[in-house]
Amino acid sequence: MSKLDKVVYQIYPKSFQDSNHDGWGDIKGVISRLDYLQELGINYIWFNPMIVSPQKDNGYDVADYRQFDPRYGTMEDFEELAREAKKRGIDIMFDMVFNHTSTEHEWFQRALNGEEKYKNYYIWKKGKAPGVPPNNWESKFAGNAWEYVEKFDEWYLHLFDVSQADLDWTNPDVRKECADIVNYWREKGVHGFRFDVINLISKWSYEDDPNNYDGRQFYTDGPREHEYLKELNRTSFGQDEDHLTVGEMSSTTIENCAGYAGADSNELDMVFSFHHLKVDYKNQMKWELQDVDFMSLKNLLFKWQVGMQEANAWNALFWNCHDQPRSISRFGNDKEYHKESGKMLAAAIHMLRGTPYIYQGEEIGMTNAYFTDISQYVDVESTNIYKVLLDKGLPEEEVLHILQERSRDNARTPMQWDDSENGGFSDVKPWLQSADSYRTINVKNTLKDPDSIFAFYQKLIRMRKEMPVVQEGIIVPLLEDHEKVFAYERKYNDESLICVNNFFAENTEIDLDLADYEVLLGNYPDQKPASHMTLRPYETVILYRK
Ligand code: GLC
Repeated sequence: MSKLDKVVYQIYPKSFQDSNHDGWGDIKGVISRLDYLQELGINYIWFNPMIVSPQKDNGYDVADYRQFDPRYGTMEDFEELAREAKKRGIDIMFDMVFNHTSTEHEWFQRALNGEEKYKNYYIWKKGKAPGVPPNNWESKFAGNAWEYVEKFDEWYLHLFDVSQADLDWTNPDVRKECADIVNYWREKGVHGFRFDVINLISKWSYEDDPNNYDGRQFYTDGPREHEYLKELNRTSFGQDEDHLTVGEMSSTTIENCAGYAGADSNELDMVFSFHHLKVDYKNQMKWELQDVDFMSLKNLLFKWQVGMQEANAWNALFWNCHDQPRSISRFGNDKEYHKESGKMLAAAIHMLRGTPYIYQGEEIGMTNAYFTDISQYVDVESTNIYKVLLDKGLPEEEVLHILQERSRDNARTPMQWDDSENGGFSDVKPWLQSADSYRTINVKNTLKDPDSIFAFYQKLIRMRKEMPVVQEGIIVPLLEDHEKVFAYERKYNDESLICVNNFFAENTEIDLDLADYEVLLGNYPDQKPASHMTLRPYETVILYRK
């Protein structure tokens, strides 16, 4: 299958639509909303994990890879979902979490019971001294990355929560288990897979991080990564012609991604990388705020676009996902220029070279939650860091402000369908409370407005489906030194498409040779192509010439 005309929509199932009045989204709820997705025009849905999990990390702590968590529904519900989606031209992508399992997974439980076979599925090391972990690595969710098990007088590695034990991929049995799981879902008709933090599965070594950082240099893009991915491809999804795969790559490099998602490398179809989403991290630290560094954002986007193109490799394109605050609150302006900036961000990413991903609610301009009390947060990362930052002596007000900007719960609040209580997501108290903005920002209002952000996304999706220059054109950065505008050209045979985007709330000027272009789409009326143009706040214009 060609990936070129695909647009993927990400559903966070826990927050999409509740159908059985338990405050928790479910498969039947998704089925009831498929018409909406068809109207948007997307042709793939990536679901965050819906399988059995104690939910310490909302499903990324898997206790059974083959069963749906009953709170989401049954295998029959899933089969109905797949059928109904297919009728609407929509395929399904599942999330495979293979760097770690929940400590409640049978494998880990059997390991704890002393079964050698299963103990060897995980990574165990002796401490440096009694009570001292094997090294100084830090968990991505705060605290040391090792947990002591007295029975063995050994520690197991958990790069994430203590309940998420890292699997040992050097063990061929582990690799076989993972391939079998993919094959199980292939037999159920799933041919799309997103692989969670998949570039962390091959560890380099277990030494101390000499910089006292978190240790990531010792477990990222490790020595056997490419080998493992080629093997997984060969033994599972690669056997289907119509597969679509994406790897979540943490702190990676273009050189490595050229292999992970290279046209001929037989690993994955594309990669998520995150460097462009750290341009508001002070000193590269997620929990230290700074304004968006626009020039870095631009440079990183260009670097990845051009670098991956030169390597004949493919990017996933995105601003949002379940781990990121809402882009409109972050890179746009979710108050005075809600509609303008929501559309501008959409165009800026959808006209790039790669496959666009839309995260639920992005298409109606859902904003950060702006919670004001720690009790409103559920995410383990947020509640952990809250304690860590308070312990460091930061005033609570400041910590809450940081969470308003950075917490993953900003993305996870219930989908806003209408202005009824809980935004039409559920008629009982949801597992995570709705953002107050549901009263005005919701699907019902959106669909009444022909000039909505949603209508703009529809047009962008249609352009990708219909225009080879959007699918396949080469990317050429434009106006590289401009301090306010992100602009680029896509070229395909003698066609040229140019996308210009003002990322700021003031007017700005651009000089480009545009006189013989026509405007295909923009977020302000009456923009005329010219060699000198004024772009209004958050203005985007897509121009075309044949
Ligand atoms: C990925 C997921 C995130 C999860 C983590 C651990 O980054 O997207 O939600 O917490 O992996 O599985």
